[in-house]
Parts: sequence; C-alpha cells; structure tokens
Amino acid sequence: MAEAMVGLKRTHRCTEVSAANVGETVTVMGWVQTRRNLGSLIFVDLRDRSGLLQIVFDENSVGKEGFDKAYTLRNEYVIAVVGKVEKRSGAVNENLKTGDIEVVASQLRILSESETPPFPIEANINTKEDLRLKYRCLDLRRPDIQSNIIMRSKVATLTRAFLANEGFLEIETPMLTKSTPEGARDYLVPSRIHPGKFYALPQSPQLFKQMLMCSGYDRYMQIARCFRDEDLRADRQPEFTQIDMELSFVDVDDVIDVNERLLAHLFKEVLGVEVKLPIQRMTWQEAMDRFGSDKPDLRFGMELKNVTDIVKNCGFGVFTGAIENGGSVRGINVKGQGAMPRKKIDALVDFAKGYGAKGLAYIAIHEDGTVKSSFAKFMTEEEMQSLIKAMDGENGDLLLFAADKNKIVWNVLGALRVELADQLGLLDKNEFRFLWVTEFPQFEWSDEENRFVAMHHPFTMPMDEDLDMLETNPGAVRAKAYDIVLNGTEIGGGSVRIHQADVQQRMFNALGFTNEAAYEKFGFLLDAFKYGVPPHAGLAYGLDRLVMIMAKRDSIRDVIAFPKVKDASCLLTNAPDVVDEKQLRELSINIDVEEDDK
Ligand code: AMO
Ligand code: AMP
Repeated sequence: MAEAMVGLKRTHRCTEVSAANVGETVTVMGWVQTRRNLGSLIFVDLRDRSGLLQIVFDENSVGKEGFDKAYTLRNEYVIAVVGKVEKRSGAVNENLKTGDIEVVASQLRILSESETPPFPIEANINTKEDLRLKYRCLDLRRPDIQSNIIMRSKVATLTRAFLANEGFLEIETPMLTKSTPEGARDYLVPSRIHPGKFYALPQSPQLFKQMLMCSGYDRYMQIARCFRDEDLRADRQPEFTQIDMELSFVDVDDVIDVNERLLAHLFKEVLGVEVKLPIQRMTWQEAMDRFGSDKPDLRFGMELKNVTDIVKNCGFGVFTGAIENGGSVRGINVKGQGAMPRKKIDALVDFAKGYGAKGLAYIAIHEDGTVKSSFAKFMTEEEMQSLIKAMDGENGDLLLFAADKNKIVWNVLGALRVELADQLGLLDKNEFRFLWVTEFPQFEWSDEENRFVAMHHPFTMPMDEDLDMLETNPGAVRAKAYDIVLNGTEIGGGSVRIHQADVQQRMFNALGFTNEAAYEKFGFLLDAFKYGVPPHAGLAYGLDRLVMIMAKRDSIRDVIAFPKVKDASCLLTNAPDVVDEKQLRELSINIDVEEDDK
C-alpha cells in the first residue's frame, strides 16, 4: 500500500468512461460499492463522485496475484484499476450511465482499506439522521446527498458568473465585527487583547454592504456566511449562507429585474426549468388577506375568506366577541373533506391552538347536504346558510373558521392551509411557484418591548407616499421592502435603504431609539452617510433554502455539507464543547454554569 500513487495517474472519473472508449486502456480510482464473485470472475462496482463503473477481474488479464487481491476487496476499500474498456459481456444495465460497458482490469492497487460502514452507502436509506450526521463523511458519499452538494456548488458558481457579468464586484466583509441589525441573537467571540470585550459574528453583511455603496462600489455581491442564535427549524440553521447583494442608484424595480433574470438563469441551467418572467407580485396586505401568510404557497388555492360582515350580528359569542375586540372571523374551505372523521378535525383544532388559536370552529357539509357544526346551535338556520354561501360551501366540503385578532387569525389559517395541503397531497415538488411580496409594513408592534420595531431593519426606506405618517400613524406606514417567495418558503428578502440623514433620524425616533443609542449601535454607518451616500437597495437570498427547494428536499440540512442539529450542536465534531482553563484565563472568562445546566 505504500506505493500509493506512484506510477499511476487517473485518466477518467467512473462515468466519464463510455462506449466511445472501447478498446482503450483507462485508469480509474474510487470506492468499492459492491463485489460479486462468479467463480473465475470477480465483478466490482467502482464508485466515485460521478457514479458507478463495472470492473471485471479475470485471472487471465489481471494475473493470479491481482485476482487474489481482488478477492480480498470489501465495501468502501479505495482502489485504483488499470484496464481495458470493453462492451458489457453480460446484460446491459439500463439504470447506469456506464451500463453498456465494463473495464477488464489488468492491474489492481488497493489504496486503502475500510471497516464496515455503519450504514449502507446508497441513496434513500432510512437510517436515523443523527447517525448519518455523526458519520457525515460517509453520509456525504451517498449519491442523493452528493447530488445536492454538487447542485449547490453549481448554483454558487452560476450566481457569481451571472452577477459578475451584470457588473457586480465580489467583496468580502468581516466575520469578527459588531452587532448587525437583523434582530436575532448574536454569536459572540471574546477578545483576548481586550479583556471583557466581544466581537459579534455577523447576522448578515448588511451594514458593510451599505458602507460599500458609500464607497462607490456601486454593485456588490458576496456569498456570505451569516450567524444567528435563534431557535432552529427545518429551514433554519445557526450558520447559513446568503447570496448577498447591494446596488446603487436603483429603486425597487431595478433590484427585482436583475434578480428575476438571475433566478430564471439558475433554474434553466441547473434544472432545465423555464421560469416565466415577470414573476408575479402581490402586496403584503393581499398576501395576508388571501393566504394568511407573508410567504404564500401558490401551488394550491384554499384561500382565506373574511366573513366578519356576515357573522357580526349572529348569535355565536365567540365570533361576535372577537369582532367587538377589533378582530375578525375568517375561514377556509377544505374542498371535498366534509366527511373528515371527528378525530382528524380534533387534531386540526389542536394544530390551530399550537398557532395561538383559542379554538377552531367548523362546518362539515356531508354529501347528502346534512350539516354538522361545532357552533350550529348558536346560529339560526338562515345565518348558517348565508355563512356557507359566503364560503362557497358545497356538499362534501369542510369549512374551518378562526375568530380572533387579525394577526392570530392569519397565522392560524395560514398554517392550517399549508398543513392541510400537505396532508391532502396538494404540494407538487416539481412545480416552482415564485412570488414577490411587496409593500411590507414598516413597523411591527412588539408587545414584549411595548414599542414599534422594524419589520425588516431600521435602514429600510418607507414608501414615498407614506413618509408623512412616520410620526402620526407609524402602524400604517408601508416599506420599500420585498421578499422573494418560492413554494411557500421565503428564499430571499431586501429593501430600498434610507440614504437621507433626516429620514433616518425620523426612523430612529419612530423606533424609540435615542440619538445616543442609535450612534452606539450604528454610528460608523451614520458617520459614513455624512459624506455623500448614493440611493441604494439590495437583497439577500438564503442559499441553503434556495438549493433545498431546487433539490426537492424538506430540510436545509440535506444541502449543507456539515449542518448542525436542532439544539445547534454539531454531531460530527461535538461542537460546542468545553475549553481548557488556560484558554479561558487568557480570555478573562469565568464560567458560571449550574451543574444541571450542562
Ligand atoms: P433576511 O434576514 O431576510 O435579510 O435574510 C435573507 C434570507 O436569508 C435566509 N435566512 C436563513 N436561512 C437559513 N437559516 C437561517 N437562520 C436564516 N435566516 C435567514 C432567508 C432570508 O430570506 N440583510 C438582509 C437582506 C437585505 O436587506 O439585503 C437580511 O439578512 O432565506
Ligand atoms: P365553545 O362554546 O367554547 O365550546 O365553542 C364552540 C366552538 O367554537 C368550538 O368548536 C370551539 O373550538 C370554537 N371556538 C372557540 N374559540 C374559537 C375561536 N377563537 N375561533 C374559532 N372557533 C373557536
């Protein structure tokens, strides 16, 4: 084994060998996928990142010693084979790219041996994810994960090339920095040289890319790592990657234009899918009213209906009470589900409660026209009929209603709509429905902080026609902010930024920041803005989310080489971990953790 690569040079990846090479001698290297002994012949499927290639060991061509060596091969051994390409002696394997050929070995070198892997190196295994992540190095050899990682690389390469061609410069921004304004918790890095002081890892390059606009680099892009200490979900990681960009001398439409063309280019080149341009746009208000979500999945209907006016004088206190409290009553029509068993409906009620509902009212219309409802006893027959009519309820339909503050009603029905579509198999992974959501509210009321907070971030420009309301009616101000949504996932978001000092000042006031507080946090940007700042705007995609949907996966962990799990730990490296006393002393850090917190 010591000879390793001496005298050997790989000529092809496994699936680069084809019928066109018949008669040629090739050198291939890779991992043993399987070995089959057929008496005087040994067959090995050799695997590398390109795929599989059949190798035949015949004592007549590889010699006795080579044949004996082939006999010892086991799964995942790494080998090099020199041999002649021939048409397959046995049946052609239609499922393999190299299914019509084989390489008859004249030389075999074992480059390294392998223990038996803890799970099979194959696509679509149902091994627990925790075990796969602990042995991620082996998991990454599996063809389904591998094709995701390769797709991700393609998307990144195509994005760089496309944006470079559009005049964007790729510029790196610091990882060791100050808090950035995306609103999540920061990851902190202690400074050795400045005891008691900390860097923050960036939640995004936001402030730096705006500074670059001040510096005249009028189109910037970066494939940037971002860090956010927030609760994880299938589409959220503590560190993730953005395709980040910023442009000067532009307005909303300019950002949308270049990004639509980028998306169309990526889908065409990577998936062969035509994205019809322009992409549909919808205001935030319309998205909430029709879908109960600021990231609506347009692959199916089941739209929300506002029935507040219909039920405002009915006898059902749950409905009228919510309306009197300034809320609304809205419903969805789950077509054809009127016969849904009570148990399943109860499960939907529990699901709704998980999203903040106090309850979920329903009307099940059976095929024979009889009606079963959780609140019929509070309504007159007439009121029931007009409600059913308003919901376009027909025989066989299930109508679900939520009554509460708008925000809760939207949240509940928006989530139910997606949950039901999933249960009913309405979500086609081969369909790609893009949507721009525009005109987001500038502010969101925070009960926790008892003040308005920025919905996007404090540098987002209000819509020109709403500027006057910054002081008088902040809740009604809309922002020049936009999200790009794909199949119900927010894959990107951005905004036009404020570039006028007076508007920025009014924004900070509206957010309840004192000048000092604003300066402490963002002073370096505000200072830069004193010296000539161009109008600018930008956007960032979650690269992980984009690739997840392109690869038709349900979790971004499947498109990240080394992801973290739900509790933000890395099963491969065991990070985060304790460190030496000495290291802590150097950093002037005292640990004060209760035994049971560990
Ligand atoms: P935003 O916070 O909306 O905007 O982030 C942009 C996109 O990044 C993705 N994303 C995530 N992906 C995986 N894990 C996470 N924890 C995570 N958080 C966000 C989403 C999101 O749409 N600086 C602004 C952009 C701008 O205004 O130009 C920003 O960071 O797909
Ligand atoms: P109750 O009279 O409280 O049993 O409620 C009658 C029906 O109304 C039950 O099906 C409840 O689940 C439902 N319900 C209660 N609160 C709400 C609400 N906020 N929105 C919609 N339905 C509700």
